[in-house]
Amino acid sequence: MDHFLYRNGELYAEDVRVSEIAKAVGTPFYLYSSATFRRHFKLFDDALAGMEHLVCFAMKSNSNQAILTLLAKEGAGMDVVSGGEYARAKAAGVPGNRIVFSGVGKTREEMDAALIGGIRQFNVESEPEMIVLNEAALALNVVAPIAIRVNPDVDAKTHEKIATGKSENKFGIPISRAREVYAQAASLTGLKIMGIDVHIGSQLVELEPFEQAYKKVRELTEVLRKDGHEITRLDLGGGLGIPYERSNEAPPLPKEYGALIQDVLGDLGCEIEIEPGRLISGNAGILVSEVIYVKSGEDREFLIIDGAMNDLVRPSMYGAHHDIIPVIEAAPGVEQAKYDIVGPVCESGDTFAKGRNMPPLTAGDLVAFRSAGAYGAVMASEYNSRPLIPEVLVDGDQFAVIRARPTFQDMIDRDTVPSWL
Ligand code: LLP
Repeated sequence: MDHFLYRNGELYAEDVRVSEIAKAVGTPFYLYSSATFRRHFKLFDDALAGMEHLVCFAMKSNSNQAILTLLAKEGAGMDVVSGGEYARAKAAGVPGNRIVFSGVGKTREEMDAALIGGIRQFNVESEPEMIVLNEAALALNVVAPIAIRVNPDVDAKTHEKIATGKSENKFGIPISRAREVYAQAASLTGLKIMGIDVHIGSQLVELEPFEQAYKKVRELTEVLRKDGHEITRLDLGGGLGIPYERSNEAPPLPKEYGALIQDVLGDLGCEIEIEPGRLISGNAGILVSEVIYVKSGEDREFLIIDGAMNDLVRPSMYGAHHDIIPVIEAAPGVEQAKYDIVGPVCESGDTFAKGRNMPPLTAGDLVAFRSAGAYGAVMASEYNSRPLIPEVLVDGDQFAVIRARPTFQDMIDRDTVPSWL
């Protein structure tokens, strides 16, 4: 459930009319609901109640400072994957002991920053990384807490670009070699083993792949404990999917996911960490765009809108579906039209939907892309010199621009023309 609902035939974000925000801010823009963010975070927190746990928001899905600050106030930890994300999390007031650092290519500089600023744990993804982290910790005279990310070789049954837990993927160490790698980690005095980390992919719409992976983590915990390692934490990654197509998708709920964790791992006495991104942010955001033209092709109608692939790349990058709805609800009984919904960028790939049923629309009408709060703004670019679009946050009956639209001059000023030209 989210807080973007029709009232009297008009789309609202919580208690604010979407059209009112569009008037104030201009289109296109991202629009987030505070209540939905809070609600989704709490769903996970409640799902793990009864076990010692920390919900670390995967901030790669949405890293606006206002969103991070809101979630930090709810008690969220953060899952970061770069020095930039680490700096953002700290700037939002998240203490180091609530930040886990994931990613296959952490640099020495990133490690140093986190070791100095404070870190809950590094999720180490390879032996070479382990060696560099050990050196970094020894040089700073500190001990780096680690979990080692294992690749359990299970099929997450999701889009190939966002599956991470098969042996052919670049992530983690093969679970078959885990004992050897943990033994090596234990011999490095700059590291302290805290636990095991696993993440098998994103937008998972079934629990079964999680179950397979978590059972393997359970077995490994027992084996490593027999080998003499102290395993006190399990980081179970993120990946729980959301209903992008509301009419026919119903992925498992956080409550069911939490029950599975409790079932498979509950008796091990480990603290549980999870790293959900999409389920917290995805349906907490929409993208609002205006129709520029309705154009008749030979055999179809094109709805040309002012949002484009540079603003929301998921449809062109993954063939992803987003529900697109009119901001002014169609009158009952109005016959649907069929549109190819496209942006102004000069590529045929700048297509959001083909043959989509919508009420008839004309220039100036507003549409909203649902489920755009995750991997939307963070993946945007300024391709075609289209300025990054603003982000707006609603909370009850108030709203604020949480990232302003740059002017053309701002964009131009970011470049430097060398004096010899
Ligand atoms: N933890 C790790 C180590 C991850 O790599 C990811 C996502 C997450 C947690 C969060 O997964 P989530 O709960 O959001 O599914 N850009 C793609 C998604 C890429 C996901 C990358 N890793 C998309 O738009 O679908």
